[in-house]
Amino acid sequence: MSEVSKGLENVFIKTTSLTYIDGEAGILRYGGYDINDLVENCEYEEIIHLMLFGDLPSASQLQKIKEKTNESYNVPYQVFEVLEKLPHDADAVGMLETAFSMLSSFYNYPWKKDENKWRAIEIIAKTSTLVSNIYRIKEGMKPRLPEPSDSYARTFLETAFSRRPSDEEVKAMNATLIIYADHEVPASTTAALVTASTLSDMYSCMVSALAALKGPLHGGAAEATFEQLKEIGDQSKVEEWFDKKIIKEKNRLMGFGHRVYKTYDPRAKIFKKYAEEIAKTPEAKKYLRIATKLEELGIKHFAEKRIYPNVDFYSGIVFYSLGFPEYMYTTLFALSRVLGWLAHIIEYVEEQHRLIRPRALYVGPIKRDFVPLKYRE
Ligand code: ACO
Repeated sequence: MSEVSKGLENVFIKTTSLTYIDGEAGILRYGGYDINDLVENCEYEEIIHLMLFGDLPSASQLQKIKEKTNESYNVPYQVFEVLEKLPHDADAVGMLETAFSMLSSFYNYPWKKDENKWRAIEIIAKTSTLVSNIYRIKEGMKPRLPEPSDSYARTFLETAFSRRPSDEEVKAMNATLIIYADHEVPASTTAALVTASTLSDMYSCMVSALAALKGPLHGGAAEATFEQLKEIGDQSKVEEWFDKKIIKEKNRLMGFGHRVYKTYDPRAKIFKKYAEEIAKTPEAKKYLRIATKLEELGIKHFAEKRIYPNVDFYSGIVFYSLGFPEYMYTTLFALSRVLGWLAHIIEYVEEQHRLIRPRALYVGPIKRDFVPLKYRE
């Protein structure tokens, strides 16, 4: 062994039938279906079936997924009690980690082939309850259990905001859920896989994944990208900001760049379209104008390095337009991505299981003579 792949670039840790990415052509498919077709035509619940059971559901299969989701939204009251006791400015992803961690003590199920997928749906439903209530608690509202409506997306928005969302909002929420649902094995999914490989329980795997998602180089990028738009403040300031922050100070342009895509991220295109549709207020339109200008400068400046907008470049404007504050952006990503995390760990544990235990190539001194403390300089 003599080579280290820095950042595990181009290392394959499993095979998968879940998600196909062509980073050169900018293609993303779930189980062979193009992401654009799925976002335009499906409900998130259909993607749950696709990821967990291998194909899009029939009407009766979809009904079964919805029934299982609807009966699984409950979480033990102790979880709300603990979340309410956390400081008002507690980090939202930290709150979700805390909640998942608590659920791992309530539901510490062993892995069982005929149960894993249904357990995963329970986790997906409970994640909706947790994320909507993290928002409620941070906004000073009382926690509430969801009252299931006709779709997972609508139920989530209704629980968070205590009002009936418009069809346009539900459509944008549903699109968000599908766009983020899976992306092969990024840092968060890899963290979940490492934990699952020890046969730890599914909730603990979700804690690992969340911890990895949180950083600004991964799921935290949507929040960091929106911060940029706020910092710029006006379309007329974009060039000046770009010149100072990106060209002179050499900061990273958040929402740009991807380990796998060397072209425009197909998810960014879809988010851009939804952002254009849903950004209705003058503020939202202002952010959209700033982002559009920033994108233009970024693409021009980074063309040679093949760095393009990624999924998080426009997602913040959709979240903002739906009414969510920035602190929620990473948890909204997680709300969708739990599906990918769970589908990958199930695929791994059921079909390809082996403990993940890489090596580190030792480059320190080979052997040294021990010197007692009193003789050391
Ligand atoms: N802005 C400026 N330069 C960048 C950016 C960026 N956004 N992304 C990459 N680069 C440059 C690096 O400075 C480096 O340049 P150098 O070779 O001259 O030193 C080169 O591109 C390669 O950078 P790496 O960090 O090695 O590339 P990697 O494949 O690890 O990058 C990453 C992936 C971490 C996402 C990077 O593009 C980045 O930091 N982007 C900004 C944060 C972001 O938007 N993250 C969300 C990604 S999508 C997701 O996780 C859901």
